[in-house]
This record gives sequence, C-alpha cells and structure tokens, in this order.
Amino acid sequence: MKKSQSELPVFYETAHAELASALEMLAACKVTESPKQAFGYFMHAKDEYNHARSFFEMLSNRGKRASIEIARDFRFKPPSLITKGYISKRGFLIETMKLKDFIAFVYTNELLAKSSFKNILIMVGYSTEEGKRISSIMADELRHHGMAKKFFLNHYPALQPWQLRIYRMKETVNNKGRKIYDVNLKFLDKLLMPLYSVMAYLAGTLAKGLNLNEFKREGKNLMNISSNSIL
Ligand SMILES: [Fe+2]
Ligand SMILES: [Fe+2]
Repeated sequence: MKKSQSELPVFYETAHAELASALEMLAACKVTESPKQAFGYFMHAKDEYNHARSFFEMLSNRGKRASIEIARDFRFKPPSLITKGYISKRGFLIETMKLKDFIAFVYTNELLAKSSFKNILIMVGYSTEEGKRISSIMADELRHHGMAKKFFLNHYPALQPWQLRIYRMKETVNNKGRKIYDVNLKFLDKLLMPLYSVMAYLAGTLAKGLNLNEFKREGKNLMNISSNSIL
C-alpha cells in the first residue's frame, strides 16, 4: 500500500474530530450567558474550524494520489460526524453535560488531541510544510487546554488533580470505544455487502421485466386513465 494511501484514515478521522470540536464550541458559544466566555468559545471554535480545514486539505492531497475506488471511501459526508460518534445523537455536549463536566471534557480532550497530533507529526515529518502546520495546531491545542484549566481552577478550586486524571482516563476509554465502534461498522458493512448486491441484482432484474410501454403518455387522454393507474 502506498504511504499516502495508508495515511488517508488518519487524516479522515482527525478532520472529523476537529470539525466536531468546532461545532461543539459554537454550540457552547450560543448558549453561554457570559459575553467573555462566549467570546472564548467563539475564538476556540474559529481555531477548530481552521484545524479542520488544514486536515481536510491534507486529506484531499492524499485522496488525489489514491485510486478513485479508495478515495471514494474517504469523501466527507456531514452525517458521518454523528454516525462515527464524533457528535452525539442526543445533542451537543453543552446541552447534555453539566458545565463542570463539559469544561473537564475540553480540558482533557485538548491534551489528548495534542498527543495524537504528535504521532501525525512524526508521520509527515517535522520539517515539512505539513509538519509546520501540525506543530502550530498543537500549539493551539495546548493553549485551549491552558484556557480550560484556568477556567476550571477559577470556578472549581476544590477539584483535585486526581479527579482530572479520572476525567482523562474516561475520555481515553471513550476515544478507544469510538474507534472500536467504527471498526465494527466497517466490518458489518463488509459482511452485509453480498446481501446488498443480491438485493440490488434482484431489483434490477425485476425492473428489466417491467413493461415500460404502460408509462408512455403520448396520445393518451389522462382524464380517461383509471384512478388506480400508477401513471
Ligand atoms: Fe483542534
Ligand atoms: Fe482545540
């Protein structure tokens, strides 16, 4: 397998994660009552949109070098943000979590994002153009982590570092769970593909047997056609 081809899933998943973060931050911005906090969420969303754009561009560069059959599997479809579990079906995190848990989520995920980007950085090389772009994204993530930490310590000073470590462990497990879910979905897709093909073949055979002359309207008085007709 070509290197750029094997890198496709990495950029595909990361672009999803970044876009989902942008949407989560925007949702948080919309519901917060504090203008200062809303501004913070807005700037965070802007950064995440830029990250998503960078990863989509890196994905597209690799997609162009892959065969059409392979590249097709890595075409972005917005609903996959939900089917892949990057955004919950139940709603945005700010709507479904307590504020304290939401900030803890941001706090831990920014750090996890930074460490996962380190592996991508090694993959593309530190001194390449892409490497420089990823390094700057990592600096953003660290800044986001710092902001969330500051917010946390200001608002929940009683929280102990071990509690944050539990949040982090929970998120690491959730991230792994998302990957397993995605692998299972792909496996099911492969398993059911022969069944889909048989169904499509049967539907095609049936359609071939239909007498399409019945659908011709020329010269017919439509008023005289029976109300049960499918015309
Ligand atoms: Fe990001
Ligand atoms: Fe971030």
